[in-house]
Amino acid sequence: MERKVIDTADGSKTLFIPEMDEQYHSVNGAITESNHVFLNAGYNHHQSTTPVVFEVGFGTGLNALLTAIAAENQKRQTTFISIEKFPLDQKLIHQLNYGKLISEQAELLFKEIHAANWGVKVQISDFFTLLKTEGDLTNFRFEETQKFDIIYFDAFGPDKQPDMWNPVIFNKIYNVSAEDAVFVTYSAKGQIRRQLRDCGYSMERLPGPPGKRQMLRGTKISKKND
Ligand SMILES: C[S@@+](CC[C@H](N)C(=O)[O-])C[C@H]1O[C@@H](n2cnc3c(N)ncnc32)[C@H](O)[C@@H]1O
Repeated sequence: MERKVIDTADGSKTLFIPEMDEQYHSVNGAITESNHVFLNAGYNHHQSTTPVVFEVGFGTGLNALLTAIAAENQKRQTTFISIEKFPLDQKLIHQLNYGKLISEQAELLFKEIHAANWGVKVQISDFFTLLKTEGDLTNFRFEETQKFDIIYFDAFGPDKQPDMWNPVIFNKIYNVSAEDAVFVTYSAKGQIRRQLRDCGYSMERLPGPPGKRQMLRGTKISKKND
């Protein structure tokens, strides 16, 4: 599938897939959206000092980069596990400007994140360990002992990819969510909110990033509060 590098409103780039008529991030600002939905509502909201993050759709590595920066700034020993069905080639990655826009340290982190081999855990920096998994979430089997604290659900939109936004997938993730886990996504669709609620997450609608009224956050209520 062809991917084109395009500009978004905050100056950061994203990728556009003409065949799907879909972008990897909001055209109203890629970095702004990632910070709002995944960092502020997810990573920064969760209390763990040693969080395990699971991301659906590694894509450009932007969420990984912003999380690595936050992990260093907040000194939280973070494990970031991401699944991606279609890893990007280096030619496209080199055209993305996330590191350069943020800082020299961010540019180094971005390079390390992309240089990391797939399928192995790599310590990227003092507080950030990365595992990039090449695979298809729709047939992926998690280890039963796996527990995620923070889930970044960043698949393409529900209208474009219904096979990724359904109770089978959501239950699969719920079953590997730790007590008090948070599940964040940019979608605010009522149907998605109800499906996540039916899995067992307690759902909140939060203000969305620029260009979107709302987003969703689910919390796995710990048994002690039942
Ligand atoms: C909205 S983009 C993700 C953006 C990414 N989080 C970032 O920061 O750039 C959706 C991603 O999900 C990936 N994807 C699509 N179907 C998938 C599947 N079945 N399993 C795993 N990843 C998939 C796409 O290739 C794409 O990289």
